[in-house]
Amino acid sequence: MILSIESSCDDSAIAITEIATNKLLFHKKISQELEHSVYGGVVPELAARLHAEALPRILEECELYFKELKAVAVTSTPGLAVTLIEGVTMAKAIAVALNIPLIGVNHLIGHIYSLFIEKETTFPLTVLLVSGGHTQVMEVKGLSDIQTVAKSMDDSFGESFDKVAKMMGLGYPGGPLIQELAKNGDRKRYNFTIPLLHSPKLAFSYSGLKNAVRLAVEETNTEDYKDIAASFEHIATAHLIHKLKKYFKDVQPKSFAIVGGASANLYLRGQIEELLKPHGAKLLLSELKYCSDNAAMIGRVAVEMYQKEMFSSFETLDVAPRSNI
Ligand code: KG4
Ligand code: ZN
Repeated sequence: MILSIESSCDDSAIAITEIATNKLLFHKKISQELEHSVYGGVVPELAARLHAEALPRILEECELYFKELKAVAVTSTPGLAVTLIEGVTMAKAIAVALNIPLIGVNHLIGHIYSLFIEKETTFPLTVLLVSGGHTQVMEVKGLSDIQTVAKSMDDSFGESFDKVAKMMGLGYPGGPLIQELAKNGDRKRYNFTIPLLHSPKLAFSYSGLKNAVRLAVEETNTEDYKDIAASFEHIATAHLIHKLKKYFKDVQPKSFAIVGGASANLYLRGQIEELLKPHGAKLLLSELKYCSDNAAMIGRVAVEMYQKEMFSSFETLDVAPRSNI
């Protein structure tokens, strides 16, 4: 079995995965959403302190598996440096105490493998990752063959939902709150511009849209928020669809997946389904509970890494807030 730890942002999570079967034997996550909600976003130092309390509590529940452990895995990149270090320090301590290998996992690869929790992998795949930290399209042929073909130049898709929710004083995380508000809103009422509409670049940008929404919020009152939310969700999604359409002119999608916390967005899911129809491409999604950060996806990657003996050294495994894929 592999014990995996996730602490890259505001979720403390630990999983136990059986190597031979990919079976998830244990998974527990303690989210900090409530604690950060009053600030309208994640406060890194507060997050680190909450991880330091939560992770040992979850670990206690895993003690019965300790003698079966063959490795300990941990998210080491990307994320908040002060929160990543909480997980990495714990993983190193477990690896030394039990004399088992350590596996440093890339969180973004974790999101890709959230598709395959308790399942076999199916590649090749075109993957859209939409989370709080990332918006990128990747061609994935396997664990060590991932090519990013488009990414955000500034804010991410999920982050823009968080910021719009903050402007409206709704709380954090913004994605589910904006989605709920948008349900009864008029998507066409605010004519926000689709970002990078005339740019030939295969890239994403959300800072301009965020500022346009800010102006709209400042100029109106709360009755109009639902229409702003709906129009924002529509344009934020239209931007992704527009760039994917452009990409599909050159590369026909066969199997397409949406992963990351914001892949839970129902409007986005519907629009992507429409986009894929004429291509006859299959859409893969993670189970809703594994879209947002969790340790089960880290454990699933770790099973592959364990089999390939992709171990990290205790001395050199460090946290890297930014990642290169
Ligand atoms: O993957 P995740 O849990 O953490 C990161 O790796 O960043 O993603 C969290 C992000 C937050 O920005 C949150 O607002 C967004 O995912 N999110 C959504 C929805 N649910 C979560 N964004 C849009 N619509 C949703 N339904
Ligand atoms: Zn994530």
